[in-house]
Amino acid sequence: MDSTTSGLDFAVLGHQDSWENISDFINGIRTSNEGELTNEKIKEIFSFIPPRTLFRMKVRSNTGAEIKGTYIETFIEPDKLDSSFLRVNIAKVRNAVSYAKKTKAKIATLGGFTSIVLEGNLDPFSDGETRFTTGNTLTAAFIVKGIEKAARDRNVNLKESSILIVGATGDIGIACTNFLKNKAAKLLLSARNYLRLEKLAVELINDGQQVIYSVNIQDLIPEADIIICVASATGIQLSNLKSGVIICDAGYPKNLETRLEQTKGVHLFHGGMGQIAGGYDLEPDYSGTFYRYAAPHIVHGCILEAIVLAFENRFESYSEGKGKITTDRMEEIYNLSIKHGIDLAPFYNAKGLWSQDQNI
Ligand SMILES: NC(=O)c1ccc[n+]([C@@H]2O[C@H](COP(=O)([O-])OP(=O)(O)OC[C@H]3O[C@@H](n4cnc5c(N)ncnc54)[C@H](OP(=O)(O)O)[C@@H]3O)[C@@H](O)[C@H]2O)c1
Repeated sequence: MDSTTSGLDFAVLGHQDSWENISDFINGIRTSNEGELTNEKIKEIFSFIPPRTLFRMKVRSNTGAEIKGTYIETFIEPDKLDSSFLRVNIAKVRNAVSYAKKTKAKIATLGGFTSIVLEGNLDPFSDGETRFTTGNTLTAAFIVKGIEKAARDRNVNLKESSILIVGATGDIGIACTNFLKNKAAKLLLSARNYLRLEKLAVELINDGQQVIYSVNIQDLIPEADIIICVASATGIQLSNLKSGVIICDAGYPKNLETRLEQTKGVHLFHGGMGQIAGGYDLEPDYSGTFYRYAAPHIVHGCILEAIVLAFENRFESYSEGKGKITTDRMEEIYNLSIKHGIDLAPFYNAKGLWSQDQNI
């Protein structure tokens, strides 16, 4: 596909979250003459593929506006996301950034780990026509708006609740924590680095918020009525959960071990996700093999941030750096999102949409 296409409003730099997805996707786009590739073969070649456009998108706003975008795959391997692969992943993101600039898209968003490996530092990319954003402001907004809605639907009073944030010192974690400050009875904060946790906790306590923090999640779980998981980690185990606990797993890939989604008395949803009422088209149409969700037109908050900014003709680095997201900006981008018919995705998890008994 041509890498120097102009006229694009937005670009998305992304990566896949599992080999299963990659295999479905790659074999889904191969012709019957080419035959299917085995997982071993796919793993052998995947990492060597340079960044490229996988498909174009047309997205429609409730205002009647239509914008054009492109999805650029970085070919970061899903099981090589941790810090020991940082250098190779940074190189892949940089190559994808150069590719995105050539598309001359007016704004580009760095999905999932593509912004994490850069620690949100987008300064080196600010030359040229394309503006870059991490998409974390709208992601954080969808997470907290999801928590507020899930609590309302289940008659849980935030003011009387203890909310645990796993990954509280990350970019999205800090944004969620600050948004929830003085809206919950108690904030329970967890991450691995004690000093960063302590610094955040002291700031919140000085602002009148009751806080408990620990590097050991298990210390905090028994007290949590609500849990937000926004860590850059996978396979996190949670035990001794309160019955009826509401959990938002907003990680990409998912933070929590999948067993939890099957656990009785746990109301877990995949958070940070929005749904586009006006819909979108993919070209080629990979909707059967890519981006499959429990309901149509569900999209990650980080991608939606670029889409909303493009609808608004605001081609700016709306989210960059770490710890800079304010509650006012979360409200602003969320309201703009609503204006274009992009609201919270319905609650779902690996089992599908929440059933009626989880909604009430
Ligand atoms: N749903 C969406 O649309 C969307 C959009 C963007 C990003 N995301 C996902 O959101 C998550 C957070 O992104 P971010 O940009 O905020 O990342 P970040 O800035 O790197 O923050 C990650 C946080 O997780 C903590 N952490 C890392 N490993 C941990 C572990 N094993 N146990 C507990 N805490 C751990 C880190 O602190 P320590 O290092 O001290 O542990 C830090 O507090 C990622 O999974 C990302 O892919 C989702």
